[in-house]
Amino acid sequence: MSNEHWSHGFYRLTPEQRRQILAEHYQLSQADQEYLANHATALGNDLVENYITDYSLPEGVVTGLVVNGKNYTLPLVVEEPSVIAAANNGAQRIAKSGGFYAEEPSRALVGQVVIDHVQDPAAKVAWLKNQEAKLIEIANAAHPSMAKRGGGAKQVRIRQVGRFISVDLLIDVCQAMGANTVNTMAEAVAHYLSENGNNVVTAILSNYATDSLQTVTCKVDYPALATKQMDGELVAKRIADLSDLAQVDPYRAATHNKGIMNGIDAAVIASGNDWRAIESGAHAFASRDGHYRGLSTWQVTNSQLEGKMTLPMPVGVVGGSIGLNRLTKLNYRLSGIKSSQELAAVIVSLGLAQNLAAIRALATTGIQAGHMKLQYRSLAISVGAKQAEIDPLVEKLSQQSHVDQKIAKQLLATIRKGDSQ
Ligand code: MEV
Repeated sequence: MSNEHWSHGFYRLTPEQRRQILAEHYQLSQADQEYLANHATALGNDLVENYITDYSLPEGVVTGLVVNGKNYTLPLVVEEPSVIAAANNGAQRIAKSGGFYAEEPSRALVGQVVIDHVQDPAAKVAWLKNQEAKLIEIANAAHPSMAKRGGGAKQVRIRQVGRFISVDLLIDVCQAMGANTVNTMAEAVAHYLSENGNNVVTAILSNYATDSLQTVTCKVDYPALATKQMDGELVAKRIADLSDLAQVDPYRAATHNKGIMNGIDAAVIASGNDWRAIESGAHAFASRDGHYRGLSTWQVTNSQLEGKMTLPMPVGVVGGSIGLNRLTKLNYRLSGIKSSQELAAVIVSLGLAQNLAAIRALATTGIQAGHMKLQYRSLAISVGAKQAEIDPLVEKLSQQSHVDQKIAKQLLATIRKGDSQ
């Protein structure tokens, strides 16, 4: 069905008018129309174009995430049923052995101004090096309030990449997410370079945030890893094998890292930060030596399993939608996190906890045992189980060799019959 006749100028309409048009064009039921209208917010309309409603995701918390001796309750926003359960599992196992140690992170964002069509690259690099103080001055003049707060452009790094020369501005954005600040500064520098005869290809923040690295480590005692069938030392060795595998096989590394990002994305979303930026930075960092590898490593020592992870984590605690979204603000009340450094430390720790839970499951029972219980809950809810019926139905479903909606409905009927007898 063509939408040509109504899509033009759609952005000029109110959310109500947009919903009305969509409802007519796609023949939405009255109930669907009400759902869209009831979930719409003024903030959503202020934030995005062509707004029609808010899309909600479940939020839960990780409790007992211990980082640098402090016990955190960390909100996570995610749709995948097993993620928060796994995060809690990993965090609590690691807390039993003292929790995470997070190093003081580096924290600068990179604004890239790239030029090309350079006749004499060596002479151009020399000219740019001579201009460094001027470029920093121009960048800071474009956003004076950042410099007043002690931040701003601090350093220029010049890189030759193929036929291009990248002028990287290292910018301290204080406690902010900072993308807009960086882009403003980069564009000001680009303008100056263009005026001085350079062909500017682009001026933009780089999401490869190698100047905002956060390292966390943890040591887990063997007993905290044991299952009923397997002693902790064997589990630790199998986890270390999985870690080695993720270092050499990109197929496994991508999944290993997906498990880490399960927790990290969920925490980044709950903190109001840009999770796409964190994702792209993480995967670029995973390929930093030209081979895509697991972001975390696990090693067996005398009586412990030692985990380590370094990630770019250029998050902020102010800016973007953080101050606008009520739930985001409330999430900071729950976590008690006050600075971008603290947020980075907690999020990377959470990622390592998430990773431990996933690979411990892989090293022992396999992932499906835990996953299926949670999938059964979703299935139970989808066939109409009421609160009190969910647990008994999950129990019955987990005894079946095969489950589907039909079987779930039949089992629910059996439970209800039993209740009424
Ligand atoms: C599933 O969302 C994440 C895992 O596949 C991660 C992993 O394999 O390490 C379980």
